[in-house]
Amino acid sequence: MAQRQGPGSPLGSLVAIGVVVGVGAAAFAYTAGWLSPQRLTPERMVAALGAPMPADLGHRRNHAKGLCFTGWFQANGNGVALSRAALFVAGSYPVVGRFNLGTPNPDAKDASARVRGLSIQIKPPGGQEWRSGMINAPFFPVSTPQDFYQLLTASGSKDPGAMPGFVAAHPGFVKFGAWAQTGPWTGSYAEERYNGLNAFRFVDASGAVHPVRWSMLPAAAPVSVDPATLDAGGPDLLEQDITKRVQAGPVRWTLQVTLADASDQTADPSEPWPDGRRTVDVGTLLVDQVQAEADGPCRDVNYDPTVLPDGIAVGDDPFPAARSAAYAVSFDRRTAEAADYPRTAPAPAPAPAPAQSGAETPAQGNKP
Ligand code: HEM
Repeated sequence: MAQRQGPGSPLGSLVAIGVVVGVGAAAFAYTAGWLSPQRLTPERMVAALGAPMPADLGHRRNHAKGLCFTGWFQANGNGVALSRAALFVAGSYPVVGRFNLGTPNPDAKDASARVRGLSIQIKPPGGQEWRSGMINAPFFPVSTPQDFYQLLTASGSKDPGAMPGFVAAHPGFVKFGAWAQTGPWTGSYAEERYNGLNAFRFVDASGAVHPVRWSMLPAAAPVSVDPATLDAGGPDLLEQDITKRVQAGPVRWTLQVTLADASDQTADPSEPWPDGRRTVDVGTLLVDQVQAEADGPCRDVNYDPTVLPDGIAVGDDPFPAARSAAYAVSFDRRTAEAADYPRTAPAPAPAPAPAQSGAETPAQGNKP
């Protein structure tokens, strides 16, 4: 007579384990995108970034050319009314940052990249930190991470109809194309305005939420340069320029926060908010040293835009989460490939811990 297999029997347990393992494997396959080839995963996004060229091992998969800097964020205290984040309390806090170019090619000529970036990591006392990556474009080319993937796929395609097809399906892209073609070029990282583009939420001490975007406004007056003159300046002209400027004295930007009106959307970085929105200058970024990336302190920093202190939070903009996932894939790969991008000197000693008083005096030799 066949024996019934109750829940407590060995066969029943094996079946239960099999079901758990099977469901787990299916969930893993789903998450990895194996069950739905059309699903956008961070791996697919990163693969599309440099395609069809092979990745440059050891380097960031986008914004691959850059140099590190260190300096200070000098908060003026005006941000405290908007956000309870410690970095807005008046004082000077250490910054590790990176000037960079929007290209997957770490050997690109400086004049070839239309998009220039500034990345910052600010560490006030207390252990929390703020990371942000900003670019000189006044708006993002597309509205959603999915559209960005389609843009990357079209621009990397050999099909001559791919880009026209993309533009026809995404008419909003024309605005970005116009900026790329006719917007002014400068000859210096120091003369660029860098925009965070994504919307976040500032949370003040009372718990009130303020939807914001932010920008770094240069102290140096922008001087328009035509691309041919830039091209004649050599492949590393921006790196040479900023190195020379910083050697001559600190280079500064104002961190300006723009507050959304109640009617403003906060989910689409391709749509700037109308002029005239309230802005608050919350402090000064002061850059007083630059270092080559190979041995510099920014080399192994992932400027993940979702690394936020208490007082700054993500909102309904889908980009920060998509960026975070893609940056993690890029970071994992490039750090695992470190042997392909060797350091030329021993790793720098960690910076001394910031003083706990809240206000810190910049190190000897700095001239804030
Ligand atoms: C879904 C959209 C985006 C994707 C998939 C993407 C992808 C990436 C990747 C893979 C990196 C290299 C990360 C690393 O290895 O550490 C990177 C760097 C960077 N991205 Fe994005 N990005 C996106 C949107 C944006 C936006 C909206 C901005 C600006 C507002 C931006 C600005 C930057 C900057 C400044 C860097 C350089 C960061 C650094 O210095 O390490 N990105 N991006």
